[in-house]
Amino acid sequence: MKVVIIIPTYNEKGNIEKLIASLEEEIFPQIKNHEMSILVADDNSPDGTAKEVTKLKKKFINLHLSSGERKGLGAAYIRAMDYAIKKLSADAMFEMDADLSHDPKRVPVFLKKFDGGFDMVVGTRYSEGGSIPPNWPFKRKMFSVVGNLLVRTILMRFGIHDWTGGFRVLKKDVFLKEKPELTNFKGYTFQVSFLHKAARDGFKIGEVPINFTDRTLGRSKIAPREYIIDLLTYVIVARIKEILFGKFGKFLIVGGTGFIINAVVLRVLVEWYKWNPSYANLAGAALAIFSNFNFNNLWTFRHRRIKSLGLYFWKMLHFYATSSFGVVFIQTGTIFVLSQILGKQGYFIYFLIGTFFLLIWNFTIYNRFIWKEKPL
Ligand code: GDD
Ligand code: MN
Repeated sequence: MKVVIIIPTYNEKGNIEKLIASLEEEIFPQIKNHEMSILVADDNSPDGTAKEVTKLKKKFINLHLSSGERKGLGAAYIRAMDYAIKKLSADAMFEMDADLSHDPKRVPVFLKKFDGGFDMVVGTRYSEGGSIPPNWPFKRKMFSVVGNLLVRTILMRFGIHDWTGGFRVLKKDVFLKEKPELTNFKGYTFQVSFLHKAARDGFKIGEVPINFTDRTLGRSKIAPREYIIDLLTYVIVARIKEILFGKFGKFLIVGGTGFIINAVVLRVLVEWYKWNPSYANLAGAALAIFSNFNFNNLWTFRHRRIKSLGLYFWKMLHFYATSSFGVVFIQTGTIFVLSQILGKQGYFIYFLIGTFFLLIWNFTIYNRFIWKEKPL
Protein backbone atom coordinates (compact mmCIF):
# COMPACT_ATOMS: atom_id res chain seq x y z
CA MET A 1 0.00 0.00 0.00
CA LYS A 2 1.00 3.59 -0.57
CA VAL A 3 0.84 5.24 2.83
CA VAL A 4 1.12 9.01 3.17
CA ILE A 5 1.76 10.54 6.58
CA ILE A 6 -0.01 13.88 6.63
CA ILE A 7 1.42 16.40 9.05
CA PRO A 8 -0.47 19.69 9.42
CA THR A 9 1.72 22.60 10.44
CA TYR A 10 1.24 26.11 11.62
CA ASN A 11 4.45 27.61 12.91
CA GLU A 12 6.28 24.36 13.56
CA LYS A 13 9.65 25.32 12.14
CA GLY A 14 11.74 23.83 14.93
CA ASN A 15 9.70 20.65 15.25
CA ILE A 16 9.02 19.61 11.69
CA GLU A 17 12.66 19.03 10.83
CA LYS A 18 13.14 16.62 13.74
CA LEU A 19 9.95 14.75 13.02
CA ILE A 20 10.72 14.33 9.31
CA ALA A 21 14.26 13.16 10.04
CA SER A 22 13.04 10.65 12.60
CA LEU A 23 10.38 9.24 10.28
CA GLU A 24 12.63 9.09 7.23
CA GLU A 25 15.77 7.81 8.88
CA GLU A 26 14.59 5.69 11.81
CA ILE A 27 11.07 4.56 11.10
CA PHE A 28 10.59 4.12 7.34
CA PRO A 29 13.53 1.70 6.99
CA GLN A 30 11.72 -0.61 9.44
CA ILE A 31 8.57 -0.74 7.31
CA LYS A 32 9.01 -3.26 4.53
CA ASN A 33 5.50 -3.94 3.31
CA HIS A 34 4.33 -0.40 2.56
CA GLU A 35 5.53 2.46 0.43
CA MET A 36 5.85 5.37 2.83
CA SER A 37 5.84 9.09 2.16
CA ILE A 38 5.21 12.35 4.02
CA LEU A 39 2.96 15.24 3.13
CA VAL A 40 3.25 18.43 5.15
CA ALA A 41 0.07 20.53 5.08
CA ASP A 42 1.25 24.01 5.88
CA ASP A 43 -0.98 27.06 6.03
CA ASN A 44 1.58 29.66 5.03
CA SER A 45 3.12 29.69 8.50
CA PRO A 46 4.76 33.07 9.07
CA ASP A 47 7.75 31.41 10.78
CA GLY A 48 8.87 29.84 7.51
CA THR A 49 7.92 26.20 8.17
CA ALA A 50 7.34 25.69 4.44
CA LYS A 51 10.81 26.94 3.56
CA GLU A 52 12.27 24.43 5.97
CA VAL A 53 10.28 21.63 4.31
CA THR A 54 11.31 22.74 0.83
CA LYS A 55 14.93 22.50 1.94
CA LEU A 56 14.39 18.97 3.29
CA LYS A 57 12.65 17.89 0.07
CA LYS A 58 16.04 17.92 -1.63
CA LYS A 59 17.22 15.27 0.78
CA PHE A 60 14.08 13.12 0.92
CA ILE A 61 12.38 12.41 -2.38
CA ASN A 62 9.25 11.04 -0.71
CA LEU A 63 8.61 14.30 1.13
CA HIS A 64 5.85 16.56 -0.21
CA LEU A 65 4.36 19.90 0.68
CA SER A 66 0.89 21.32 0.25
CA SER A 67 0.60 25.02 1.07
CA GLY A 68 -2.65 26.89 1.46
CA GLU A 69 -4.54 29.56 3.29
CA ARG A 70 -5.19 29.09 6.97
CA LYS A 71 -8.76 27.90 7.49
CA GLY A 72 -8.35 25.63 10.50
CA LEU A 73 -6.94 22.20 11.25
CA GLY A 74 -9.82 20.25 9.67
CA ALA A 75 -9.67 22.30 6.48
CA ALA A 76 -5.93 21.64 6.23
CA TYR A 77 -6.51 17.90 6.61
CA ILE A 78 -9.25 17.87 3.98
CA ARG A 79 -7.04 19.73 1.51
CA ALA A 80 -4.09 17.44 2.24
CA MET A 81 -6.09 14.21 1.99
CA ASP A 82 -7.38 15.29 -1.41
CA TYR A 83 -3.83 16.04 -2.45
CA ALA A 84 -2.52 12.72 -1.12
CA ILE A 85 -5.15 10.74 -3.05
CA LYS A 86 -5.04 12.72 -6.31
CA LYS A 87 -1.38 13.58 -6.60
CA LEU A 88 0.38 10.93 -4.55
CA SER A 89 -2.04 8.03 -5.24
CA ALA A 90 -2.31 7.30 -1.54
CA ASP A 91 -4.15 4.14 -0.47
CA ALA A 92 -3.98 5.07 3.18
CA MET A 93 -3.16 8.21 5.16
CA PHE A 94 -1.91 9.01 8.61
CA GLU A 95 -2.92 12.03 10.64
CA MET A 96 -0.06 13.12 12.86
CA ASP A 97 0.87 16.25 14.81
CA ALA A 98 4.08 18.05 13.89
CA ASP A 99 5.13 18.99 17.41
CA LEU A 100 6.53 15.56 18.43
CA SER A 101 3.61 14.94 20.79
CA HIS A 102 3.00 11.83 18.70
CA ASP A 103 5.84 9.36 18.95
CA PRO A 104 7.03 8.31 15.46
CA LYS A 105 7.88 4.88 16.92
CA ARG A 106 4.17 4.13 17.10
CA VAL A 107 3.79 4.36 13.31
CA PRO A 108 4.79 0.69 12.71
CA VAL A 109 2.46 -0.36 15.55
CA PHE A 110 -0.45 1.44 13.87
CA LEU A 111 0.40 -0.22 10.57
CA LYS A 112 0.58 -3.68 12.09
CA LYS A 113 -2.90 -3.28 13.51
CA PHE A 114 -4.14 -1.67 10.27
CA ASP A 115 -2.82 -4.61 8.23
CA GLY A 116 -4.94 -6.89 10.40
CA GLY A 117 -8.01 -5.70 8.50
CA PHE A 118 -9.13 -2.32 9.82
CA ASP A 119 -10.42 0.66 7.84
CA MET A 120 -9.17 3.09 10.42
CA VAL A 121 -6.91 2.80 13.46
CA VAL A 122 -6.96 5.57 16.05
CA GLY A 123 -4.42 6.30 18.75
CA THR A 124 -5.94 6.23 22.21
CA ARG A 125 -4.69 7.97 25.32
CA TYR A 126 -7.49 6.68 27.52
CA SER A 127 -7.38 2.93 27.44
CA GLU A 128 -4.90 0.26 28.40
CA GLY A 129 -1.35 1.48 27.92
CA GLY A 130 -2.23 4.93 26.61
CA SER A 131 -1.62 8.14 28.54
CA ILE A 132 -1.79 11.92 28.66
CA PRO A 133 1.24 13.85 29.97
CA PRO A 134 1.53 13.36 33.75
CA ASN A 135 2.81 16.93 34.08
CA TRP A 136 -0.38 18.46 32.69
CA PRO A 137 -2.12 20.69 35.22
CA PHE A 138 -5.19 19.11 36.84
CA LYS A 139 -7.57 21.36 34.88
CA ARG A 140 -6.15 20.33 31.52
CA LYS A 141 -6.32 16.63 32.46
CA MET A 142 -9.93 17.09 33.55
CA PHE A 143 -10.87 18.76 30.28
CA SER A 144 -9.29 16.01 28.28
CA VAL A 145 -10.72 13.07 30.24
CA VAL A 146 -14.18 14.53 30.89
CA GLY A 147 -14.41 15.82 27.32
CA ASN A 148 -13.83 12.38 25.87
CA LEU A 149 -16.19 10.74 28.33
CA LEU A 150 -18.85 13.28 27.43
CA VAL A 151 -18.41 12.64 23.71
CA ARG A 152 -18.67 8.88 24.22
CA THR A 153 -21.76 9.22 26.38
CA ILE A 154 -23.63 11.69 24.19
CA LEU A 155 -22.87 9.75 21.03
CA MET A 156 -23.62 6.49 22.93
CA ARG A 157 -20.59 4.87 21.41
CA PHE A 158 -18.40 3.33 24.06
CA GLY A 159 -16.21 1.11 21.93
CA ILE A 160 -13.88 3.97 21.00
CA HIS A 161 -12.03 5.58 23.90
CA ASP A 162 -10.27 8.55 22.32
CA TRP A 163 -12.41 10.69 20.05
CA THR A 164 -10.45 13.93 19.98
CA GLY A 165 -6.95 12.64 19.30
CA GLY A 166 -5.08 13.40 16.12
CA PHE A 167 -2.86 10.34 15.60
CA ARG A 168 -4.61 7.96 13.20
CA VAL A 169 -4.35 5.98 10.02
CA LEU A 170 -7.22 5.43 7.61
CA LYS A 171 -7.98 3.99 4.20
CA LYS A 172 -8.66 6.48 1.45
CA ASP A 173 -12.18 5.04 1.06
CA VAL A 174 -13.10 6.27 4.52
CA PHE A 175 -12.15 9.81 3.59
CA LEU A 176 -13.79 9.69 0.16
CA LYS A 177 -17.03 8.41 1.68
CA GLU A 178 -17.21 11.02 4.45
CA LYS A 179 -15.70 14.01 2.67
CA PRO A 180 -19.01 15.52 1.50
CA GLU A 181 -20.13 15.72 5.12
CA LEU A 182 -16.92 17.10 6.58
CA THR A 183 -17.50 20.67 5.57
CA ASN A 184 -19.02 22.26 8.65
CA PHE A 185 -16.39 21.62 11.26
CA LYS A 186 -13.08 22.83 9.97
CA GLY A 187 -11.30 23.31 13.26
CA TYR A 188 -10.26 20.65 15.76
CA THR A 189 -13.80 19.25 15.83
CA PHE A 190 -12.88 17.69 12.50
CA GLN A 191 -11.36 14.80 14.49
CA VAL A 192 -14.56 13.94 16.33
CA SER A 193 -16.91 14.47 13.42
CA PHE A 194 -14.80 12.42 11.02
CA LEU A 195 -14.47 9.51 13.44
CA HIS A 196 -18.16 9.63 14.30
CA LYS A 197 -19.25 9.46 10.67
CA ALA A 198 -16.83 6.63 9.96
CA ALA A 199 -18.18 4.66 12.94
CA ARG A 200 -21.77 5.40 11.90
CA ASP A 201 -21.14 4.02 8.43
CA GLY A 202 -19.81 0.76 9.78
CA PHE A 203 -16.13 1.18 8.93
CA LYS A 204 -14.03 -1.15 11.02
CA ILE A 205 -12.18 0.92 13.59
CA GLY A 206 -9.34 -0.26 15.81
CA GLU A 207 -7.36 1.39 18.60
CA VAL A 208 -3.69 1.54 19.47
CA PRO A 209 -2.52 2.97 22.80
CA ILE A 210 -0.33 6.08 22.57
CA ASN A 211 1.55 8.13 25.12
CA PHE A 212 0.91 11.74 24.30
CA THR A 213 3.80 13.97 25.35
CA ASP A 214 3.83 17.75 25.67
CA ARG A 215 5.45 19.78 22.96
CA THR A 216 8.77 21.36 23.95
CA LEU A 217 8.92 23.94 21.16
CA GLY A 218 6.32 26.44 19.99
CA ARG A 219 2.73 26.82 21.15
CA SER A 220 -0.52 24.88 20.87
CA LYS A 221 -2.99 26.44 18.41
CA ILE A 222 -6.09 25.22 20.18
CA ALA A 223 -8.55 27.91 21.30
CA PRO A 224 -10.14 26.01 24.21
CA ARG A 225 -13.38 27.98 24.48
CA GLU A 226 -14.16 27.87 20.79
CA TYR A 227 -13.15 24.21 20.64
CA ILE A 228 -15.40 23.15 23.52
CA ILE A 229 -18.40 25.04 22.12
CA ASP A 230 -17.82 23.64 18.63
CA LEU A 231 -17.34 20.13 19.93
CA LEU A 232 -20.45 20.12 22.13
CA THR A 233 -22.53 21.63 19.34
CA TYR A 234 -21.38 18.90 17.00
CA VAL A 235 -22.03 15.95 19.30
CA ILE A 236 -25.41 17.19 20.54
CA VAL A 237 -26.75 18.09 17.09
CA ALA A 238 -25.37 14.89 15.57
CA ARG A 239 -27.00 12.78 18.28
CA ILE A 240 -30.39 14.49 17.94
CA LYS A 241 -30.26 13.99 14.18
CA GLU A 242 -29.30 10.37 14.69
CA ILE A 243 -32.29 9.80 16.94
CA LEU A 244 -34.78 11.68 14.77
CA PHE A 245 -33.64 10.42 11.40
CA GLY A 246 -32.43 7.06 12.57
CA LYS A 247 -34.40 3.93 13.29
CA PHE A 248 -36.13 5.41 16.30
CA GLY A 249 -37.38 8.41 14.32
CA LYS A 250 -38.75 6.18 11.58
CA PHE A 251 -40.36 3.96 14.21
CA LEU A 252 -42.09 7.06 15.65
CA ILE A 253 -43.32 8.16 12.23
CA VAL A 254 -44.66 4.68 11.48
CA GLY A 255 -46.37 4.62 14.89
CA GLY A 256 -47.88 8.04 14.11
CA THR A 257 -49.38 6.82 10.83
CA GLY A 258 -50.72 3.76 12.68
CA PHE A 259 -52.39 6.06 15.19
CA ILE A 260 -54.05 8.04 12.38
CA ILE A 261 -55.27 4.85 10.69
CA ASN A 262 -56.68 3.63 13.99
CA ALA A 263 -58.49 6.93 14.62
CA VAL A 264 -59.91 7.24 11.10
CA VAL A 265 -61.23 3.66 11.04
CA LEU A 266 -62.77 4.13 14.47
CA ARG A 267 -64.63 7.28 13.44
CA VAL A 268 -65.75 6.01 10.05
CA LEU A 269 -67.12 2.75 11.45
CA VAL A 270 -68.90 4.48 14.32
CA GLU A 271 -70.23 7.55 12.48
CA TRP A 272 -71.06 6.06 9.07
CA TYR A 273 -71.70 2.41 9.77
CA LYS A 274 -73.00 2.76 13.33
CA TRP A 275 -70.63 0.13 14.74
CA ASN A 276 -70.21 -0.34 18.44
CA PRO A 277 -67.15 1.83 19.32
CA SER A 278 -65.33 -1.05 21.07
CA TYR A 279 -65.51 -3.30 18.04
CA ALA A 280 -64.75 -0.37 15.76
CA ASN A 281 -61.60 0.32 17.76
CA LEU A 282 -60.52 -3.31 17.60
CA ALA A 283 -60.87 -3.22 13.83
CA GLY A 284 -58.99 0.08 13.65
CA ALA A 285 -56.20 -1.20 15.90
CA ALA A 286 -55.90 -4.44 13.93
CA LEU A 287 -55.51 -2.48 10.70
CA ALA A 288 -53.05 -0.05 12.30
CA ILE A 289 -50.91 -2.91 13.58
CA PHE A 290 -50.94 -4.49 10.12
CA SER A 291 -49.82 -1.23 8.55
CA ASN A 292 -47.17 -0.66 11.24
CA PHE A 293 -45.76 -4.11 10.70
CA ASN A 294 -45.38 -3.60 6.97
CA PHE A 295 -44.05 -0.06 7.14
CA ASN A 296 -41.51 -1.06 9.76
CA ASN A 297 -40.52 -4.05 7.70
CA LEU A 298 -40.11 -2.04 4.50
CA TRP A 299 -38.63 1.12 5.99
CA THR A 300 -37.53 1.27 9.64
CA PHE A 301 -35.84 -2.12 9.65
CA ARG A 302 -35.35 -2.47 5.94
CA HIS A 303 -31.76 -3.65 6.29
CA ARG A 304 -33.11 -6.62 8.28
CA ARG A 305 -36.22 -7.09 6.15
CA ILE A 306 -38.17 -10.31 6.56
CA LYS A 307 -38.26 -11.88 3.13
CA SER A 308 -39.55 -15.43 3.30
CA LEU A 309 -43.35 -15.75 3.32
CA GLY A 310 -43.47 -18.30 6.16
CA LEU A 311 -41.32 -16.13 8.38
CA TYR A 312 -43.39 -13.08 7.40
CA PHE A 313 -46.60 -14.57 8.79
CA TRP A 314 -44.86 -16.00 11.83
CA LYS A 315 -43.29 -12.63 12.64
CA MET A 316 -46.56 -10.81 11.99
CA LEU A 317 -48.21 -13.09 14.55
CA HIS A 318 -45.48 -12.17 17.04
CA PHE A 319 -45.97 -8.55 16.17
CA TYR A 320 -49.70 -8.70 16.90
CA ALA A 321 -49.05 -10.58 20.14
CA THR A 322 -46.37 -8.24 21.48
CA SER A 323 -48.26 -5.12 20.33
CA SER A 324 -51.39 -6.31 22.16
CA PHE A 325 -49.37 -7.21 25.22
CA GLY A 326 -47.90 -3.70 25.17
CA VAL A 327 -51.28 -1.98 24.88
CA VAL A 328 -53.01 -4.15 27.48
CA PHE A 329 -50.33 -4.63 30.11
CA ILE A 330 -47.89 -1.78 29.66
CA GLN A 331 -49.93 1.19 28.47
CA THR A 332 -53.26 0.32 30.10
CA GLY A 333 -51.46 -1.23 33.07
CA THR A 334 -49.63 2.05 33.72
CA ILE A 335 -52.93 3.94 33.63
CA PHE A 336 -54.50 1.38 35.98
CA VAL A 337 -51.68 1.35 38.52
CA LEU A 338 -51.23 5.14 38.58
CA SER A 339 -54.98 5.74 38.94
CA GLN A 340 -55.04 3.37 41.91
CA ILE A 341 -52.18 5.20 43.59
CA LEU A 342 -52.75 8.82 42.60
CA GLY A 343 -56.44 9.00 41.74
CA LYS A 344 -58.31 8.99 38.46
CA GLN A 345 -58.23 12.71 37.69
CA GLY A 346 -54.72 12.57 36.22
CA TYR A 347 -55.66 9.86 33.70
CA PHE A 348 -54.45 11.72 30.65
CA ILE A 349 -50.98 12.20 32.12
CA TYR A 350 -50.92 8.48 33.00
CA PHE A 351 -51.91 7.74 29.42
CA LEU A 352 -48.95 9.79 28.16
CA ILE A 353 -46.57 8.06 30.57
CA GLY A 354 -48.01 4.67 29.60
CA THR A 355 -47.59 5.51 25.94
CA PHE A 356 -43.97 6.44 26.56
CA PHE A 357 -43.34 3.05 28.20
CA LEU A 358 -45.21 1.40 25.35
CA LEU A 359 -42.93 3.03 22.78
CA ILE A 360 -39.83 1.82 24.61
CA TRP A 361 -41.31 -1.67 24.89
CA ASN A 362 -42.24 -1.85 21.22
CA PHE A 363 -38.96 -0.44 19.96
CA THR A 364 -37.00 -2.88 22.13
CA ILE A 365 -39.06 -5.88 21.07
CA TYR A 366 -38.81 -4.95 17.39
CA ASN A 367 -35.05 -4.61 17.63
CA ARG A 368 -34.32 -7.61 19.80
CA PHE A 369 -37.00 -9.98 18.70
CA ILE A 370 -38.98 -9.27 15.55
CA TRP A 371 -36.21 -7.77 13.42
CA LYS A 372 -33.23 -9.05 15.32
CA GLU A 373 -29.94 -9.29 13.42
CA LYS A 374 -30.09 -13.01 12.77
CA PRO A 375 -33.53 -14.43 11.98
CA LEU A 376 -34.78 -17.13 14.34
N1 GDD B 1 -2.10 23.53 8.66
C1 GDD B 1 -2.57 23.78 9.88
N2 GDD B 1 -3.54 24.72 10.04
N3 GDD B 1 -2.08 23.10 10.92
C2 GDD B 1 -2.59 23.37 12.14
C3 GDD B 1 -3.60 24.32 12.38
C4 GDD B 1 -4.09 25.04 11.25
O1 GDD B 1 -4.97 25.89 11.35
N4 GDD B 1 -3.88 24.34 13.70
C5 GDD B 1 -3.06 23.41 14.26
N5 GDD B 1 -2.28 22.83 13.34
C6 GDD B 1 -1.26 21.78 13.50
C7 GDD B 1 -0.19 22.11 14.47
O2 GDD B 1 0.87 22.81 13.84
C8 GDD B 1 0.23 20.74 14.97
O3 GDD B 1 1.11 20.10 14.10
C9 GDD B 1 -1.09 19.97 14.97
O4 GDD B 1 -1.93 20.65 14.05
C10 GDD B 1 -1.73 19.90 16.35
O5 GDD B 1 -1.91 21.21 16.82
P1 GDD B 1 -1.51 21.68 18.30
O6 GDD B 1 -1.70 23.15 18.33
O7 GDD B 1 -0.20 21.14 18.71
O8 GDD B 1 -2.71 21.02 19.08
P2 GDD B 1 -2.74 20.38 20.53
O9 GDD B 1 -1.48 19.64 20.82
O10 GDD B 1 -3.18 21.41 21.48
O11 GDD B 1 -3.94 19.35 20.29
C11 GDD B 1 -3.79 17.96 20.27
O12 GDD B 1 -4.89 17.42 20.97
C12 GDD B 1 -6.14 17.71 20.37
C13 GDD B 1 -7.27 17.30 21.28
O13 GDD B 1 -7.08 16.02 21.82
C14 GDD B 1 -3.78 17.43 18.82
O14 GDD B 1 -3.43 16.05 18.84
C15 GDD B 1 -5.11 17.57 18.13
O15 GDD B 1 -5.09 16.87 16.88
C16 GDD B 1 -6.22 17.02 19.01
O16 GDD B 1 -7.48 17.27 18.41
MN1 MN C 1 0.36 19.75 20.14
